[in-house]
Amino acid sequence: MKRILVIGGNGQLGHCLQKLAPKYHDLYDFNFTGSSVLDITDYKQVDLVFAEYQPDFVINASAYTAVDLAETEVENAFAVNAEGVGNLASVCKDNNAILIHVSTDYVFDGETNLNYAEDDFTNPIGVYGTSKRKGEELALDNNPETVILRTSWLYSEFNKNFVKTMLHLFEVKDQLGIVGDQFGQPTNANDLAEAIMDIIDSGKKVFGIYHFSNYPETTWFDFANKIKEFSGSEIKLKSITTEEFPTPAKRPKRSTMSLDKIENDYNIEPKHWEKSLRDCIEILKLTNA
Ligand SMILES: NC(=O)c1ccc[n+]([C@@H]2O[C@H](COP(=O)([O-])OP(=O)(O)OC[C@H]3O[C@@H](n4cnc5c(N)ncnc54)[C@H](OP(=O)(O)O)[C@@H]3O)[C@@H](O)[C@H]2O)c1
Repeated sequence: MKRILVIGGNGQLGHCLQKLAPKYHDLYDFNFTGSSVLDITDYKQVDLVFAEYQPDFVINASAYTAVDLAETEVENAFAVNAEGVGNLASVCKDNNAILIHVSTDYVFDGETNLNYAEDDFTNPIGVYGTSKRKGEELALDNNPETVILRTSWLYSEFNKNFVKTMLHLFEVKDQLGIVGDQFGQPTNANDLAEAIMDIIDSGKKVFGIYHFSNYPETTWFDFANKIKEFSGSEIKLKSITTEEFPTPAKRPKRSTMSLDKIENDYNIEPKHWEKSLRDCIEILKLTNA
């Protein structure tokens, strides 16, 4: 049986992979690690954990994801998102394991009206995006047999995310202003987990950078409006500009990504974001999470 090591097992994507794992129990042996068991910034620890689990595939669901805090915690962001990823790629190479790593649409500056292709020029405008881009480079330099999935606007029933924050705010506020001039592709992390398993299960040996998200693009304001509709909330939502909602880190205005490559190479068809959002809200209603 092939072995899969999931790093970042306590994170949002990590939880989605834990949920999906039983479906594959007769094909793959999964091990999930949190940062207390495996800190990816510690090369020796990575080496030891690989020796123990001897994975055939490694899914890196770990990251430093605090986009605003990264502006001041620059060293931490780079240690995890860049050097840590470089460590994983090197140790994967030494152990003949295939690394599936997750990156972000924030590697782009968002100054275009077109959907970004995988080989388009990157130009991150914040520390988080810059550290994630460095991680992509180190991963491919240290081990070209790496699959990198850039995703965007991730949410699910697990951990903290935009959908769960909105649902909470809808309970405690009468009205809310939501940014209406940033465009992106919301992505249910459960769909990303499925795409990762589809890639592993395909048995294909095609590597490099891929974009994966739900489609098509929307704004945070329209996203929030759908959350309102699907949850049955009565809250009043108002579209505001980025300037009216200043944050420590700048966000790309339009970081929408083309999804053709993953469809062509891996036959993975992205789902409409509204359908995936509805699925998530139904789960949250059922579990009261
Ligand atoms: N969230 C988004 O909107 C978004 C958008 C685009 C791309 N992405 C990317 O998608 C991936 C998954 O994101 P997510 O939302 O699932 O992240 P998340 O919920 O913040 O989880 C990240 C996990 O990384 C682990 N971690 C942090 N530092 C670590 C270290 N030094 N060593 C080992 N593990 C460490 C943490 O583990 P412990 O809990 O055990 O400490 C945490 O559970 C990330 O690569 C992220 O950059 C996310």
